[in-house]
Amino acid sequence: MFVLGTAYYPDYLPDEVLAKTPDGQTRRITWQNRISEDFKRMRTCGISAVRMGEFSWSTVEPQPGRINFARFRYALDHASVNDIKVIFCTPTATPPKWLVDKYPDILPITREGRKIPFGSRRHYDFCHPMYLAESRRITSAFAQDVGNHPAVIGWQIDNEFGCHGSAYSFTEHARVAFRKWLLDRYKADIEALNRDWFTAFWSQRYNTFEQIELPLASWADQNPHMELDFRRFSTDKVAAFQHDQVEILRRLSPNRFITHNFMTLFSDVCAWRLSEELDIVGFDHYQMETEPHPTSSHWQFALMRSLKRQLFFVLEQQPLQVNWQATNRRYAYDWLFLWGIQAALLGSAAMYYFSWQRFPGGAEQYHDAILPHDIRVSESWQERVLKAKRQLFDLLAQQFGVTLAEPMTVEDDVLCIYDFESVWSHDIAAQSAEYSTRRQVDFVAALCQSSGLGLSFARTISDAAEILPHYKCLVLPGYAFEFTAEERQLLQQFVNAGGSVISLPRTGMKKRNNQMSEQPLTIFDANDFYFEDFGALLSDEKEPFKAGAQTFEGTTWAEKIKIVNENWKPLAQFTSGLYRGFPAVIQNASFANQGRYTHLCACPPSDVAFISWLIATTGLLPRVKTNKNLHVYPVQAGQHRMLAALNFTDVEQELQALGQNAVRKFTTATLDPHQKLKVVSSNGTAPAAIIKVAPRAVCLIEL
Ligand code: GAL
Repeated sequence: MFVLGTAYYPDYLPDEVLAKTPDGQTRRITWQNRISEDFKRMRTCGISAVRMGEFSWSTVEPQPGRINFARFRYALDHASVNDIKVIFCTPTATPPKWLVDKYPDILPITREGRKIPFGSRRHYDFCHPMYLAESRRITSAFAQDVGNHPAVIGWQIDNEFGCHGSAYSFTEHARVAFRKWLLDRYKADIEALNRDWFTAFWSQRYNTFEQIELPLASWADQNPHMELDFRRFSTDKVAAFQHDQVEILRRLSPNRFITHNFMTLFSDVCAWRLSEELDIVGFDHYQMETEPHPTSSHWQFALMRSLKRQLFFVLEQQPLQVNWQATNRRYAYDWLFLWGIQAALLGSAAMYYFSWQRFPGGAEQYHDAILPHDIRVSESWQERVLKAKRQLFDLLAQQFGVTLAEPMTVEDDVLCIYDFESVWSHDIAAQSAEYSTRRQVDFVAALCQSSGLGLSFARTISDAAEILPHYKCLVLPGYAFEFTAEERQLLQQFVNAGGSVISLPRTGMKKRNNQMSEQPLTIFDANDFYFEDFGALLSDEKEPFKAGAQTFEGTTWAEKIKIVNENWKPLAQFTSGLYRGFPAVIQNASFANQGRYTHLCACPPSDVAFISWLIATTGLLPRVKTNKNLHVYPVQAGQHRMLAALNFTDVEQELQALGQNAVRKFTTATLDPHQKLKVVSSNGTAPAAIIKVAPRAVCLIEL
């Protein structure tokens, strides 16, 4: 069953509050009352799991060595009584003041040389040996004290590695560690480093590894090759920090899963790398945009499912208002409903809301939660949404005989390469403030959801070697690096077997050391084509191109490619602008089994007309016809083949199932204005296979 949960903070509860009851009496509410009432109330709205403890260090150990878990034990006992399962967290994201006073140089230093003070969170340096020792000590204490409590089913390590820019620290300990890391990477060969870092440029040659500093903020750009190595080094340090805790937890708190809550609002640490040691991937789902961006959520959920190729947990769901944007606007309540369903359909097995009750104080006092500040509210709108969600899951189980999430899996059609090193490479030498890998992946997600194709991810082409044959299409969304010989061979095999590859601009332009390639985008043969020019477009600059009778507009980045090998055909041409007359899309379709490789020479528009043209031209078979405002995901539960359609807009949308996909039955549900579940249509038959999906509704369709 899909698990509903919440972050819960027994450590934040005031010792007691005095409240007036309706009959005019004064009631003392102690923290003990609150805990037992909270767990009962959670049960009534379908919550069966909590996550606790991630910022609790100074509560548990107020003085060095004086450890007191009384409050948490009380909470764990009450969780057990109410059959609520607990993910406990290690508290290392917030070292207490006494510890910072004891070791002041555990505080991190920013790129600008500013010491991060005590008073917020993530104020520690991954490279500090004493902090590593303290992290091991407190993890052992937590594991020993609560790690064998029957309510505890799993552990979360720390909290959001890298959040607030904290993956990169510029301390003395980091400098020493970075030098050692470089010594290993370059096998003590300083000339190899000089070559890779292109140090002749601006007279940066090094004679020894001891001369190397950290990439601090400088007048102009720092060395981009050094910066890429520094980011690799930083992920290694975070991984080592995590490893210490994993090892202790496995030993002292056996038979519990271990997770971490990844963030995708930033990409400073490589989540592929960190997830290797974890049992389950955790994800904190928040939105940066003023208007929610469900397409971006789509691929972020899919990326999380791909990290370990299994179901994941949403460990924090934005509940909806936050406190960290310039203006923390209110959102329509149905977003909470829709996001929960979207996550479940895309492979999340649990959703923990952040958090149970709005905090009375602290930096997040305005942040939303399941319960409002006002203790008189007997049922909050979020509680009603949770109940509606639970009811929907029960209804779907009844009508379709399937339970969300297990064993629901998403059919995989399109495999997209998402390599953090590639993202870093583009960020470091950006050339365009308009360009981001995220936006390219938004396009890939839009393509999939408007055609009913499943989306998943792999780190690199060679990492995908085993799974690639199961896919119909591989997408390189501006994957920065040259293909290795092995990768070229894999691509060749894939297209020969009938696969379709689509690459977006900026693919294959760099070497792994972040230098420019001399033979960019060599796919099959170095002499197939060459690049005469490429570059950035302004935000309002468009590069129109013609494909058959249709005209589309390229954006953001364009490439001027000269074809040499006639197996490559121009499928579309720039009609004006600097690259007029040059191909806007090139394709090689000279392979067995109708396989083909298609490269887009400008960042594509994400309108449905272009997506349909691209799908047709690349030989992909869409499952549905719809517009991009409807998200259609293929889902599979046991023997059931289904489509799920989510309408995030305020107007009714339509979809038509294509090909062999006859609709057998469908159910559409939404929230009414009081956040109660409203079934719009159910078990209907679908004339001419056209299904109308009501505004802000989810529709499950059995094929
Ligand atoms: C998350 C963080 C939580 C809370 C939340 C506020 O990034 O893990 O502790 O701060 O943001 O939106």
